Amino acid sequence: MPASAPPTTPSTSDVSASPASNKACGCGSQGGCGGGSAGALAVNGGEPVSKAPVPFMSTAMQAPEIEAATTVLKSGMLRAAKKCEELEQRMAQISGAKHAMTCANGTCALQLAYEPLTERGDDVLVPAWSYIATVSMVVARGARPVFVDSLEDTMQINVADAERRLTPKTTAIAATHLYGCPVDIEAVQDLAKRKGLRVIYDAAQAHLATYKGKGIGAFGDAVTYSFYATKNLGTGEGGMITCNDDALARQIRLLRSHGETDKYLHEQVGYNYRMNDITAAIGCARLDRLEAETDKRREAAARLDSIVSGIDGLIAPTTTAGATAVYHLYVVKMDLKKFGCTRDEFCKALGAEGVPTATHYPRSLTQQPAFAAYAAEQGHPAVAANLAQCVFALPMHQALTEEHFRTIEGALRKVAGAMR
Ligand SMILES: Cc1ncc(COP(=O)(O)O)c(C=O)c1O
Repeated sequence: MPASAPPTTPSTSDVSASPASNKACGCGSQGGCGGGSAGALAVNGGEPVSKAPVPFMSTAMQAPEIEAATTVLKSGMLRAAKKCEELEQRMAQISGAKHAMTCANGTCALQLAYEPLTERGDDVLVPAWSYIATVSMVVARGARPVFVDSLEDTMQINVADAERRLTPKTTAIAATHLYGCPVDIEAVQDLAKRKGLRVIYDAAQAHLATYKGKGIGAFGDAVTYSFYATKNLGTGEGGMITCNDDALARQIRLLRSHGETDKYLHEQVGYNYRMNDITAAIGCARLDRLEAETDKRREAAARLDSIVSGIDGLIAPTTTAGATAVYHLYVVKMDLKKFGCTRDEFCKALGAEGVPTATHYPRSLTQQPAFAAYAAEQGHPAVAANLAQCVFALPMHQALTEEHFRTIEGALRKVAGAMR
């Protein structure tokens, strides 16, 4: 499931089986309950903090994108044309890149970047903590993923660990700006320079993020994006690659559309990974307000930081030094030693109080059955494996209100108090 999809199935774990959940009152020792949170946990039949659940995300299309898409539909020019070009120009400019190429989705974007930048049989350093596409497209390329652990604090790729895992066949590093927070780009670029590696950044979750005052498109050989429905810039499906090299941009454009250089003249073999103008029109309209929405996400993150850091046993996310995150997801860590329950039990109880959560991710990538053969040879990077046990995402979007924050605070305090 793409990174920011809402939780579709509630946790199946039975919270009432947990000894901690038998406590009648949710008021913990950390300053008591938020508004309306007194009494038994809702998951055990008590009154919920809020009967109206906080929306986990806000993805509804608004009038400008509906109008923009309708204009394209009425025009009959449905293929990639002026709107795709507009989205490309604007995203290149906003992200600090020379070239931008739209494509069908973020997975295609990764494939279009990996194909010219790596060879079959190469070793490619990849994060053990990311969405599967970052790595599955390395495998699709015929290269071997070498899994790198995460940093404990930011949860981003640990570049020192990447250096330890270099092999004579390593030619590239793929790094995900996870949850919308840029990785330590300076460290990645330094490693790449010293070891002669190509760098591909997966920015599927990080539209408009910056590093040391520059757009993330300014760094690495290629940067890939997703415009999946729930992303900060969501168009339904859609993707993009940015880069700063003319020859690479040409190669990617050729690969994107059957190597076609003139009508029915195919210079090389390629794919049909094109976007269309309906999607691009939605993207352009949403881009008009992306900066304002991103500011709202940052304000929401600051608000959630103050709530989460006031609750014993919960750890607010931290960002890479020099990075400005865009908070695609707001991911909290639990110090499980402090609770008498699992993360899933905790989240099920939060859901019952009116605060939906999601788990990004329930497994690290080496724990995925698809990568079992690599896990057998490389093991499971420990920090990433541990994150899979203890992280959960709180509601995060531009439309969170004071009332939502009060519900989140009340539910977190109530559940944490009862489960400790
Ligand atoms: C980090 C990351 N990379 C790649 C992708 C793949 O993007 P898409 O779903 O558009 O193919 C996603 C989507 O969830 C993602 O979160």
